[in-house]
Amino acid sequence: MTQQDGTKAIMAGSSIAPLNGIGFGTWAWGNKAVWGYDAQRDDARLRATFRQALSSGINLIDTADSYGTGSLNGRSEELLGEFIAELPALRRSQLTVATKLAPFPWRWGRRGFDRAFEASRTRLKGQLRRVQLHWSTARYAPWQEAGLLDGLADLVLCGRVDELGLSNLGPQGLALIHGRLAKRGVLLRSVQVQCSLLAPADDQLLELIAISRDLDVEVLAYSPLAFGVLGCAPGAEETLPATWLRRRLFRRLLPASLELRDEMQAIAIERGASMVQVALNWCRALGTTPIPGLRTPVQAMDVAAALQWSMSMQERQRLDVARYRCSERMPANPFQSR
Ligand SMILES: NC(=O)c1ccc[n+]([C@@H]2O[C@H](COP(=O)([O-])OP(=O)(O)OC[C@H]3O[C@@H](n4cnc5c(N)ncnc54)[C@H](OP(=O)(O)O)[C@@H]3O)[C@@H](O)[C@H]2O)c1
Repeated sequence: MTQQDGTKAIMAGSSIAPLNGIGFGTWAWGNKAVWGYDAQRDDARLRATFRQALSSGINLIDTADSYGTGSLNGRSEELLGEFIAELPALRRSQLTVATKLAPFPWRWGRRGFDRAFEASRTRLKGQLRRVQLHWSTARYAPWQEAGLLDGLADLVLCGRVDELGLSNLGPQGLALIHGRLAKRGVLLRSVQVQCSLLAPADDQLLELIAISRDLDVEVLAYSPLAFGVLGCAPGAEETLPATWLRRRLFRRLLPASLELRDEMQAIAIERGASMVQVALNWCRALGTTPIPGLRTPVQAMDVAAALQWSMSMQERQRLDVARYRCSERMPANPFQSR
């Protein structure tokens, strides 16, 4: 069965549970240290990637005001703003562009995000539907968060932005903030957390997904490909990424995930799909919406093809067995809180 947004539905008992779609992320668009961004070399390819993703039916785009630092300040939002401005108005109106505002220590109080919000909106040329709190400060500066959240709720209530989301938050924080916003009549649309076959902290993730379902909050799965490790076919260990940070991660995770990637490859062959599609559809089977990072048009096409099929319970179980045997997982995001 196909939903209105083009995604498929799976049968769960007698009820039909809709499967989430897929979005894409743009952290790499302007990031040198982890992703080796180079404007001269990359920008034309990123424009083509953006167009391919959209023409393959992807409508949700994740960015952040901290993607692109130093002289590249706000580069990811800037590129998106440029690319979106080239679209016809109807296509623009179908997109959900979600940025994240970082609660840096110098941003505090109810008006603490005002300037950052306006700067993001300007870089995105007004195409901003959702604002997300990039991480919770509850662990290290609990006094900071309430004012910033009140300010974000103000933005929705006065019509400056349509939707609110959170990021790097666990079940406890989600329930608290959801309650706080509900008292002001503001809906929370999404929470994004690291979620992949190699993500750390299973218990917290599963609890978050369960609570989000109860609260009707969409869970966006970030780094769903473990920075690209999950797309590496077994035996292709010699193809390491260019930057030192990713190379170090790949050297650690490729051997640790060999059995898992064997199983992923077996499912991919049976399905006539790619390993990346297997990784994304595992996230979707869990009830989340993956937002893989894209850098080439071919990647965009491949990722969108995951929407054409859904994972069976047996396939999910095979992957779960294999992933519990991985001797190492992705590092936890230091900004993640409970
Ligand atoms: N809230 C947060 O704190 C937070 C943290 C991290 C990420 N995020 C968001 O989540 C997004 C995605 O996460 P991520 O960028 O960290 O990592 P990811 O999605 O796990 O990995 C992205 C990398 O996977 C590879 N890839 C993508 N599609 C592929 C395909 N079809 N075939 C083969 N390889 C493919 C590409 O590597 P190559 O280009 O090298 O081939 C790509 O750069 C980010 O862009 C960002 O928007 C949010």
